[in-house]
Amino acid sequence: MYKIVKKEALNTTVKLLEIEAPLIAKKAQPGQFIILRTDEEGERIPLTIADYDREKGTVTIIFQEVGKTTKVLGALKVGDKILDFVGPLGRASHLDGYKNAVVIGGGLGSAIAYPQAKKLHEMGTKVTTIAGFRNKELIILEKEMSAVSNQLFVTTDDGSNGNKGFVTDELKKLIDQDASIDLVIAIGPLIMMKFVSQLTKSHGIKTLVSMNPVMIDGTGMCGGCRVTVAGETKFACVDGPDFDGHEIDFDEAMRRQMMYKEQEAESMEQHNC
Ligand code: FES
Repeated sequence: MYKIVKKEALNTTVKLLEIEAPLIAKKAQPGQFIILRTDEEGERIPLTIADYDREKGTVTIIFQEVGKTTKVLGALKVGDKILDFVGPLGRASHLDGYKNAVVIGGGLGSAIAYPQAKKLHEMGTKVTTIAGFRNKELIILEKEMSAVSNQLFVTTDDGSNGNKGFVTDELKKLIDQDASIDLVIAIGPLIMMKFVSQLTKSHGIKTLVSMNPVMIDGTGMCGGCRVTVAGETKFACVDGPDFDGHEIDFDEAMRRQMMYKEQEAESMEQHNC
């Protein structure tokens, strides 16, 4: 059993949990994820590792309450325990050898982009972070991202934080001003990652995206998490979740993402979420 040692609400639907998991904390790297099951009856859900503390032996996860399991998870309190917490899974992000990176987080994707920015910053890479949200109430981790970035731009779709626009608008400005950008990391909704990848492709800038498809076993056995990369089938759980954004079939990934909407809505209804 894995004990919750800290809980924080980052906005009305996004929660942070710090969980005692010393063996995972010892090995975790940015880009990797865990699969958890809250109790015997629970489904297995993958969540990206948002942070880890090797000394304290804890792993931080950040999630949005969008379905039955994340609602159950969000209702747990400090001191409660999670039945299964397995990881670290997936491949760590390859961040070596870059000098000038732009790290982009869209909404909850900022929680996944944050450890990447932090690691790049620790490695001495220049880091510009762009974080986009629908409105200012949804902004998360601004202080944390600022601490690991040479510059930070926070945009909102409705302009309620005084900086109206999409992350791609900010990225375009940066690319126009600075020809030395050698890496872009984009993590967020598929549509955002698609448009970022299109923009960087036209400028020949290496781009990593983090895919978050449906996952079941997390070990490459079930095929649930397949994505098409450079015309080949890959499994996000063992081959990713990071992939070259210029090689992903985003349209197929978006179609697959919609496949279980009906069942998810049914499950929410059954459990009065
Ligand atoms: Fe089953 Fe990846 S989750 S193959």
